[in-house]
Amino acid sequence: MTAISTMKPLAEPRTSEAIRIRPATGSDLAELTRIDEEVSGVAKRKYWTHLLASGGGRSRYVLVAEEQNQIQGFIVGEIRAWEFGEPPCGWVFAIEVRPKTRLQGIGTDLFSALCDRFRRAGVTKVRTIMARDNHLVLSFFRSQGMMAGPFIELEMALDRNG
Ligand SMILES: CC(C)(COP(=O)(O)OP(=O)(O)OC[C@H]1O[C@@H](n2cnc3c(N)ncnc32)[C@H](O)[C@@H]1OP(=O)(O)O)[C@@H](O)C(=O)NCCC(=O)NCCS
Repeated sequence: MTAISTMKPLAEPRTSEAIRIRPATGSDLAELTRIDEEVSGVAKRKYWTHLLASGGGRSRYVLVAEEQNQIQGFIVGEIRAWEFGEPPCGWVFAIEVRPKTRLQGIGTDLFSALCDRFRRAGVTKVRTIMARDNHLVLSFFRSQGMMAGPFIELEMALDRNG
């Protein structure tokens, strides 16, 4: 089980006004790739290049939290029709904040900005899927009001030979 520190860092608290949430642009590629590698431990330059280049139309959102021209975190989400016949809903694909600036409300600002965009686009539910043992992200989403939904995910490895 992953241990979660509930201790707040001793850094000066930032005010929400110091943080600007804006859509990512192509020129954020290097910084987003770096933050993602720092947080996830995996370099995904191809993924980010494709994500920022493809744009995704009006249903995909890549938002960054910027403070004094430095990106401190990002959130990626999309509106998708999913289960057969279910109305489209907003999905959160990823949220990451630089370790040094956590627990100062940046994750909350990013999530809330994404939910605002989902609401304005007319969807009434936000969903996400995550690793069962990612207690940090689970705590964060719970703090935002997210709860277990009515569906569960099942999976099975497919044998190549059938
Ligand atoms: C989850 C994450 C985005 C939160 O960002 P943040 O800016 O620290 O979030 P906030 O400051 O807005 O915290 C909001 C709430 O989340 C919960 N939370 C955040 N960090 C927590 C921690 N370390 N332990 C317990 N609860 C925590 C708290 O309830 C907190 O509210 P509080 O400060 O009033 O107690 C950040 O920790 C992160 O990037 N983690 C790694 C993410 C990751 O693995 N992403 C890959 C999969 S998507």
